[in-house]
Parts: sequence; C-alpha cells; structure tokens
Amino acid sequence: MSEDVLLTEEQDSVCILTLNRPEVMNAFNFELLHALKNKIESIRFSTEIRVVIITGAGEKAFSAGADLKERQTLSDIQVKEFIYTIGNLFTAIETLNKPVIAAINGIALGGGTELALASDLRIASMNSSMGLTETRLAIIPGGGGTQRLPRLIGRGKAKELIFTGRRVGAEEALQIGLVNQICEQEVLMDECKKMAAMICEAGPIAIEQAKFAINFGMETDIHTGLGIESNAYRVTIPTEDRLEGLAAFREKRKPVYKGK
Ligand code: COA
Repeated sequence: MSEDVLLTEEQDSVCILTLNRPEVMNAFNFELLHALKNKIESIRFSTEIRVVIITGAGEKAFSAGADLKERQTLSDIQVKEFIYTIGNLFTAIETLNKPVIAAINGIALGGGTELALASDLRIASMNSSMGLTETRLAIIPGGGGTQRLPRLIGRGKAKELIFTGRRVGAEEALQIGLVNQICEQEVLMDECKKMAAMICEAGPIAIEQAKFAINFGMETDIHTGLGIESNAYRVTIPTEDRLEGLAAFREKRKPVYKGK
C-alpha cells in the first residue's frame, strides 16, 4: 500500500516524507513514484505545511534510484512511462510552492541524486555517497540530472561526474557545491529541522515568491529575470504579512505571519 512505501510526519508546519523501501535502498518503483506524486500534489494546496523534508528510511540509503529489479520486468513502453513519471514528479518538487530540503542520509545514486537536485536545499550526512551512475548501465539520467547537475555545479564538473559515473562522498559533495551542508548522521534530521524552522520564521508568501523568482529568473537573461523578480515582489506588497513585519519591527516583537 502507498502509505507503507512513503511515510509522512507533520510537526510544527514541517512535513517529513520518508521513502520507505529500505530493503532495496529506497529505490523508486512505480508504487513509490505514485505515492510521492500524490503527496506532493496535496502539499501544494496545504496552508498548514511550510517546508518539506525528504529523507530515506534506515541508515544506509537516501535512495539508490530506479528500482532495477522492477526495471527488468518492464517493457520498453513501461520504461518510457517510468521516465515520464519520475521526470514530472521531480519537476513538481522543484516547482512546489514550498521549500524542499533533501536530508541525504546515505547512498543517493541515479534518481536518488536527481531527487536531491530537484530539492531546493541539500544537507548530507558524512556517510553519504552521491552520483549519477546511469551511464554505467548504458542509459542516461532521466529525472532531470543532465540539466540540474550542470546548473548547480557547472557543466565541466557535471560532465565529469555523468561521463564517469563516479560517486562522491559528503566532503567532496560540499566542496563542489552539490550539497549546502554536511553533518554526522545522528544530527542530520536536527540540522534539517533547524533550517526548516528558520524558513518557517519568514513570511510564507515571501518564501514562495523568492523560490519562484530564483527558479524562473535563473533560466532566462538578467533583464527578464529582474522583471520576474519585480513582479514577484509586487505579490508581497498588498499582503497582511508585510504590514505585520513592519508592525513587529516597530513594536520590537517577533512577527506572526499568516500567509495572507
Ligand atoms: N534497485 C533495486 N534494488 C536495489 C537497488 C536498486 N537501484 N539498489 C540496491 N538494491 C538492493 C540490492 O539488490 C540488495 O537487495 P538483495 O539483498 O535482495 O540482493 C539490497 O538493495 C542491498 O544492496 P547491496 O547491493 O547488497 O548493498 P551494497 O551496500 O553492497 O551496495 C549499492 C549498494 C546501492 C551501491 C548497490 O546496490 C548498487 O550499485 N545499486 C544500484 C544503484 C544504481 O545504479 N542506481 C541507479 C539506477 S538508474
């Protein structure tokens, strides 16, 4: 059942999603793809949830990518369907109106690294091992990896990692800008929750518009990008939260934002 392959926990406006197939290193089969897709769509319209954290069950893996055992049973058409579904899912995560933090708690290969790339922020534990290893299986990254990796770490490094299929450990991942932060595995969720809590202190509409402006502005020339930023800013001007921010500053207290 879908509830089993994906665990959900909500706490203080933060939704923690746990890929729960530890027996296969949290690899993605169709069932897990559909469960995550449905959950992301419901989070999009939630006014309670402010930040999403995605992690993997167990201590070994975030996700080992596509389920290669299931893959062997699929026809060519079904493989196409899988790639279409995972691609759209990761794009839905990238364009979700809330920040997504990938809590990379171990192995993240192929689709596992692509899921992390589609997330807004990545925190990895010291035992992490990341990589786009698909060319070693005579295929290529199909969940956005050929596009998002070069945009994040530069095309030279991305080509090196995709052509060789080499895996990188936590320290190298930090050094090349693949992850924002690294930490010991025991404190990984605490670090992610700390970051989520800081984001939750900010205005919800501001966060949504900042994500929108960065995502869409980065894909165009600077003048168009500045236009996108200007329009995104305008969305925040008539909000109650903007006035609350000013009032809280004047009254020397913490603001209480409502997302209005
Ligand atoms: N799909 C399906 N099952 C997977 C899997 C995947 N992507 N990755 C790991 N598993 C399964 C293994 O088959 C094994 O199951 P088994 O005990 O029934 O044989 C179990 O998870 C544990 O994996 P194992 O290989 O024994 O652990 P390891 O620590 O020696 O190696 C990996 C872990 C992830 C490095 C190795 O399993 C691997 O290379 N997996 C493929 C990753 C990959 O290429 N992903 C990209 C897909 S496009």
